[in-house]
Amino acid sequence: MAKKITVELCMGSSCFARGNSEILQAVENYISEKDLADQVELVGHLCLGKCNQGPNLRIDGTDYSAISPEEAISCIARALEE
Ligand code: FES
Repeated sequence: MAKKITVELCMGSSCFARGNSEILQAVENYISEKDLADQVELVGHLCLGKCNQGPNLRIDGTDYSAISPEEAISCIARALEE
């Protein structure tokens, strides 16, 4: 059975200003291109409390900070392979 992961993207205003809207777009595109809707649960999160390190993303409880859209995609791809 395919692995499932939960991806929480910080939607607080600071992370949003630092580029989480581009990450959201990239992750949504990736999920639809790779047909991963059953495997990746994407949820918006309120402020994760690390505003000055944003944009912040959490995958299955592990936080990733100051990431680009490309890095977000590779983190998700890696999490699916683990
Ligand atoms: S707004 Fe994202 S950590 Fe605070």
